[in-house]
Order: sequence, then structure tokens, then C-alpha cells
Amino acid sequence: MEIFVDSADPDEVRRVVALGWVDGVTTNPTLLARAGRGLRAAVAEIAALVRGPVSAEVLAAETEGMVHEGRTLAAISPNVVVKVPLTAAGLRAVEILAAEGIATNVTLCFSPVQALLAAKAGATYVSPFVGRLDDAGHDGMAVVAEILDIYRRYEFSTRVLVASVRHTDHVRRAALLGAHAATVPPKVLDGLCRHPMTDAGLARFAADAAAAGLSADT
Ligand code: G3P
Repeated sequence: MEIFVDSADPDEVRRVVALGWVDGVTTNPTLLARAGRGLRAAVAEIAALVRGPVSAEVLAAETEGMVHEGRTLAAISPNVVVKVPLTAAGLRAVEILAAEGIATNVTLCFSPVQALLAAKAGATYVSPFVGRLDDAGHDGMAVVAEILDIYRRYEFSTRVLVASVRHTDHVRRAALLGAHAATVPPKVLDGLCRHPMTDAGLARFAADAAAAGLSADT
């Protein structure tokens, strides 16, 4: 499963990419506004930091504008994936961009039927927002399970990118379901490799080694 960081802050991206197991980056307009570096500048800087996909979202609401912005964003770097909202206009834009060989990530997906349409349009990725579904009283991961089931039945090649991740358990469940990718905020990402028993075990080993005067050189 690919693990992406959900951030538009180049400094943050540089830090987590150095961990070695982050496969790509997703941004959105809210994250870009927060990062305060402008859209093109931030996307270009981030795309140079990571070999894997970097999702950058169009701002237009109509197909023509989305396609124009999509081409512009894709021209920034070969690893840019154009993020398009799951609207009728967005699905049409995805079809046009896909026909030109431009990778897309259909975002703001909240239902299996929406995801079916994204796959039929030729999306490279579809992003179900599990955290926002949970927040609204739905079961976000159940939506992901249904999307994966539908995609398997029809052998769609669209990759399911679990987004709006709130905690480690979303990542665990995404992996168990066989989701292709998850995008994780930096704070949650930092916690993925941590476990209190690892910390306790390490402290015990360190104490025992120190008490015995152990050294890797002797
Ligand atoms: O980037 C899309 C998605 O991951 C946003 O997450 O936390 O704003 O619901 P959130």
C-alpha cells in the first residue's frame, strides 16, 4: 500500500520524506492556503522533493477551466497528479485529461456510486474521505470496502486512495481492506511507527545493556 503525506508545506514534506517510507504527497486548496507559499510554487517545490505522485487540485468549477488548470499543473512536473472534484464537470474533465495521458485523483468522494463514476471516467486515483464521513456519523471505512469490492468485480484499474485519515486505525483498516493508498496528515504519519511497547522494550534493553556495560565494539 502506498503511504502519502497529506500536506502542502514543503518543509514538512521534506522532513517526512526523509523517513524513507513516504511514497508521495497529496495537497488540497485548504492545505495550500495554510502553507502560504502560493499554489504553483509550493507544488513545484514539493514535486522536486519526492519521486512519487504529488496531487495538486484544480480550482475551476467548470470542465473547460479544470482541463486548462489540469494541463498547467501537470506541466509543473511529471509526478504531478491532477486532483479534480467529484462533480459532473469534474468527471468530464477527468475523461479529457485521461485521454491526454494526464494522471488524475478524483477527490471529495463520499459514496461507492460516485467512485464507480470516477473509475468509468478513467481516474488514476479516487479519494474517499473517511474522516469526514465518520465525522458526519457514517462509516467511512465501510464506504472504502464497498468501493474496493465494486472495483474488483469490474477489474477497474483506478486506485483507491483513502483520504481524510484521522488516526492510525484508519491506516490499519485501509491496509486490511487492500486499499491501494492512504494519505495521512504529518501528525498521524509520525505515529505510524510508534508503539508504547516498543518504547518500553527499548528502555528495558538500554537499561540492561548499560548495567552490563555492553558495547557493540566489544
Ligand atoms: O486532502 C484531502 C483530505 O485528506 C482532507 O482531509 O482532514 O481535511 O478531512 P481532512
